[in-house]
Amino acid sequence: MTEKKYVLVTGGAGYIGSHTVLALINNGYEPVILDNYRNANENVPDRLERISGRKIIAVKGACQDEELLNELGQQYNFWGVIHFAADKAVGESVQKPLKYYDNNLTSFLSILNFMEKFEIKNIVFSSSCTVYGAADTAIVTEETPLGAPLSPYGASKLFCEQILKDSFDKGTGFKVVSLRYFNPIGAHSSGIIGEEPQGVPNNLMPYITQTAIGEREALTVFGNDYPTPDGTCVRDYIHVVDLAEAHVLALNYLDHQDNKFWDAFNLGTGVGTSVKECIDLFAKVTGKEIPFKYGPRRPGDVPQIYAKVDKARDVLKWEAKYDVAYAIETAWNWEQKKDTL
Ligand code: WQD
Repeated sequence: MTEKKYVLVTGGAGYIGSHTVLALINNGYEPVILDNYRNANENVPDRLERISGRKIIAVKGACQDEELLNELGQQYNFWGVIHFAADKAVGESVQKPLKYYDNNLTSFLSILNFMEKFEIKNIVFSSSCTVYGAADTAIVTEETPLGAPLSPYGASKLFCEQILKDSFDKGTGFKVVSLRYFNPIGAHSSGIIGEEPQGVPNNLMPYITQTAIGEREALTVFGNDYPTPDGTCVRDYIHVVDLAEAHVLALNYLDHQDNKFWDAFNLGTGVGTSVKECIDLFAKVTGKEIPFKYGPRRPGDVPQIYAKVDKARDVLKWEAKYDVAYAIETAWNWEQKKDTL
């Protein structure tokens, strides 16, 4: 009987975390969710049970709760950790820097200390393309110098990556993969889980779908005077299910490393889509025109950034299967179903 590979999934009830929990289950890992539900719905574990048809281990609590972590460390022989738990809105982080530095760094350091204490070696860290800052070129590779992030959110992710780089070979023996997400959108095809921001959405796609369903009056496009083809910002929108799959491949990759190790991968589609193109594509895919107006630029935004994803393809044997149109279709399906769940 092979040893169960328990993986602590911090923030596992969140948007990317919940989709990743399903991918872990489908690939023989045993996820244990740790989530304080500050930015996630408490019924997500039940919904994951509906989709997967099996029991989900979910613990309510904060990554900073050392006593709880000790209990979990004694209860499960964890093989690895996927650390999602963090605040993640670029715009909000500019307005509330201390909230972002405090939560994102203290939760991260608490998890690293927990890993050291229980000699857990494998960690996949949920990083972000915002660590590149306003890169000189719009298309970034993993070798692109990590610029000065334009937001406390991006800076907090950069600090965490630096801490992993400084510590993996200093006696911890950590085996580390940092996954630098571009813009996650879309939802599981069942429409039972998806992006569920608390309050007014910071991110573009949930704001669009909430406008389409009548929850928001109109979308404000933050700036149309950027040096881009149509003046609006360009991003690399990646389906959350593609993103989830990459986490499993990252764990498999770590499993094949013999000892201390650090690496990072861009996770995107390699295709840039502007805000205006998202609005037009949404109308084309769903038949729903989105009322919008142009407003001022949002502090912290970079004009355009999208991924060079050769490394993830060549090393993790991963590439995005879904395009933005399909992601929009699933996001809209989720928006229409979510209040019936
Ligand atoms: C996208 C574009 C906005 C809302 C996200 C995640 C971050 C990271 C990177 C993972 C920008 C514009 C938005 C609105 C708008 N991913 N916009 N009106 O800032 O690229 O960051 O991806 O770690 O966690 O937050 O995404 O969706 O907020 O913005 O015009 O109401 O849409 O200005 O140009 P962002 P976003």
